[in-house]
Amino acid sequence: MPLLSTKFEIKPTPVQVDAELIFAALDEDKKILARVGAHSDVIEKLEARGTLTGQAKNTLFVPFAGKAKAEHLMILGLGVAESIKAEGFRVAGALAYQKLVAEKCASAAVMLEEFEDFHGGAADLASAFAEGFGLAAYKFDKYKSKAEKVEKKGKKAPKKAKDDSVTLTFVSKDKGITAELKRLLDRVQATLECTAITRDWSNEPSNIGTPEFYAAEAVRLAKKAGLKTRVIGEVEAKRMGMHMYLSVGQGSDRESKMVVLEYTPKGVSKKETHTVALVGKGVTFDTGGISIKPSAKMEDMKHDMTGAATVFGATLLAAKLKIKNRVVCVMGFVENMPGGHATTPSSIVRARNGKTVEIINTDAEGRLVLGDALDLAQDYAPDCVINAATLTGAVGIALGKIRAGVMTNSQPLLDQLVEVANAQHERVWQLPLDDEYFEDIKTPYADMMNSANNPLGGTIRGGIFLKQFIRPGMPWVHMDIAYTANDVPGLPYLPTRGGTGMHVRTLAQFAEQFRGVDRG
Ligand code: BES
Ligand code: MN
Ligand code: ZN
Repeated sequence: MPLLSTKFEIKPTPVQVDAELIFAALDEDKKILARVGAHSDVIEKLEARGTLTGQAKNTLFVPFAGKAKAEHLMILGLGVAESIKAEGFRVAGALAYQKLVAEKCASAAVMLEEFEDFHGGAADLASAFAEGFGLAAYKFDKYKSKAEKVEKKGKKAPKKAKDDSVTLTFVSKDKGITAELKRLLDRVQATLECTAITRDWSNEPSNIGTPEFYAAEAVRLAKKAGLKTRVIGEVEAKRMGMHMYLSVGQGSDRESKMVVLEYTPKGVSKKETHTVALVGKGVTFDTGGISIKPSAKMEDMKHDMTGAATVFGATLLAAKLKIKNRVVCVMGFVENMPGGHATTPSSIVRARNGKTVEIINTDAEGRLVLGDALDLAQDYAPDCVINAATLTGAVGIALGKIRAGVMTNSQPLLDQLVEVANAQHERVWQLPLDDEYFEDIKTPYADMMNSANNPLGGTIRGGIFLKQFIRPGMPWVHMDIAYTANDVPGLPYLPTRGGTGMHVRTLAQFAEQFRGVDRG
């Protein structure tokens, strides 16, 4: 488990902390609404100076303004009170963490009563705040040489000089609220751990993050969480007929590994449970193969396994939350390299489901991996299948870096997923998947090609290709996360550099809530 640098506590009375956090909001006339009576004099003075607005994302650190237990105050703007929801608190939590670290505070407290006037339950909003706080604290620095020890013998440096850990204490006497918050903070803790794993995997450099590495890590972490594990090597994959998937790793010296994990809830009857299959693209490095990519920014292709990292994080989270549904997680790990044995354009391969594919572009490799992985996942009798993949550059052209593209053969299934994604603020946008899109990947030589000879509708084309591996009547959603997987700007709880872990929360919550779809 990655070390988490935040700690959450709940206390009935105020405790000694470095800073107390105060929330300021605006009323409908954009007039400031401070939440704390005890500090109203400070807030009035700041307001008079025009340095406090109450607007969203406005943070103000007021040193030495604390009264009883806290030395400093920090005022966090939330925007217009009526419209503040969980996401507002998630953002405020992230900004609070960043400011506290910058101000060298190792502890802070929030009076829960302050949340009462906002929409949503106090515990819900507080847990969103903690989530943003914890997500913002993530760092990937394991390959940085340790800085010179600042501690001198016998003289302890302040905690802040050593690390960026901050303890956040929620203070409330209300037994109902604190019991509920305790439960929610446990969920937040699990979410932070699993999201950190997804981000770590995504960020792992490609010389370390090999198919073997991810397969071993998946098994290690999954076993610890009590999941059933299966690793399929190349010999077995060949025997199973997964030639399409195997063609991608052919040019690499590293063995491809297909990993299958199963989470089965305890004490739930088969009738009550539904099975969700989560399938992920795990290309540990995508050079493009013989259809080699240009060198500029090629290093970003270490993130090409983030689909697998995302479904893994979600599966692990589902297990930690002890959800009542069964989850099957299938990840295809391969390295896409040129070389003497690499797949050449014009090669025709047979997929596990029997269909033949002419590979005209070895850089359209993700769909070759996923097609066989999707077919395998359906052997586990799921009630729905969702795959996540950094599949096309075109999804960035269409949607930028804020929303992932989603495509489906089942509108009711996608509607369920979209609802959860919106609730988590991990937004997606639907693209169409009409059968006529298949025209462009028709070829005289095989059942289909893996790409087309024009650049139109590239993301949909990826989707229509994958659809050929979905069995009749199986509800399925394809998520193209190529541009939301890493380096997302504008959300302070997501890293602007590195893996984001976006959609881990959505997929875990979806798996938790899924109650089947009408197959019409
Ligand atoms: N891994 C890439 C997609 C990608 C591109 C992810 C940019 C993140 C950032 C994928 O394997 C790929 O190369 N797709 C091609 C498909 C094309 C050859 C049909 C693409 O998008 O150009
Ligand atoms: Mn590629
Ligand atoms: Zn790729």
